[in-house]
Amino acid sequence: MHNQEIQAAYGYLPKDVLDKMCEKTGMFPTQVMGVATFYSQFRLEPTGEHVIKICFGTACHVNGAEKVADALADELKVEFGGTTKDGKFTLETVACLGCCSLAPVIMIDEEAYGRLTPDSARKIIRDYYETGRA
Ligand code: FES
Repeated sequence: MHNQEIQAAYGYLPKDVLDKMCEKTGMFPTQVMGVATFYSQFRLEPTGEHVIKICFGTACHVNGAEKVADALADELKVEFGGTTKDGKFTLETVACLGCCSLAPVIMIDEEAYGRLTPDSARKIIRDYYETGRA
């Protein structure tokens, strides 16, 4: 299997599978890791049940994306790129999500939330937990 097939099968690249790839291909682990981390679609850890993408594109940036991002990181007690301890949310930053008129924007899975403030972003997360979606 190639990296992409492994990713599709597992949702991420488990370390023991990477080790096996190294054995089979004769590549050093650092080379395989280099490929895996260069292509950002490869993850080295399982993602949470929900993936939050925070837009850091220009329109979102000038409309306060950082404050929204900080509020989400604080609410979820997670670093950017990380997953919450309960495995519910992975927090990622991305470039433009394509709905700049709604800046600042986040996407949770396939759903976009726009014109956010730090408080409204926190409320979305709380609603997920309160309504049993997370
Ligand atoms: S800059 Fe954020 S959606 Fe375009």
